[in-house]
Amino acid sequence: GFEVVLARAGCSVAVAPGKSILDALLEAGIEAPYSCHEGVCGTCETRVLEGEPDHRDLVLSRAEHESGKVMMICVSGCKGKKLVLDM
Ligand code: FES
Repeated sequence: GFEVVLARAGCSVAVAPGKSILDALLEAGIEAPYSCHEGVCGTCETRVLEGEPDHRDLVLSRAEHESGKVMMICVSGCKGKKLVLDM
């Protein structure tokens, strides 16, 4: 598991192993836009301020994956212990 810090909301949520960031946010009562829940539509695209995403989506280009600046929170995770998101 890892921690997700929502920079603008000023709160953080723990993401249990095997759970998606999106589901952890929704279960914590935080509203986040999404549609497909499968990493294909792009609706849940979120800017990453800190931390290294573990990309599992089919939306972003390889260059965008390598930049680490945006991620799809419905499927992608974290390679470290903490992600800071612009939301
Ligand atoms: Fe469709 Fe995340 S909800 S890519």
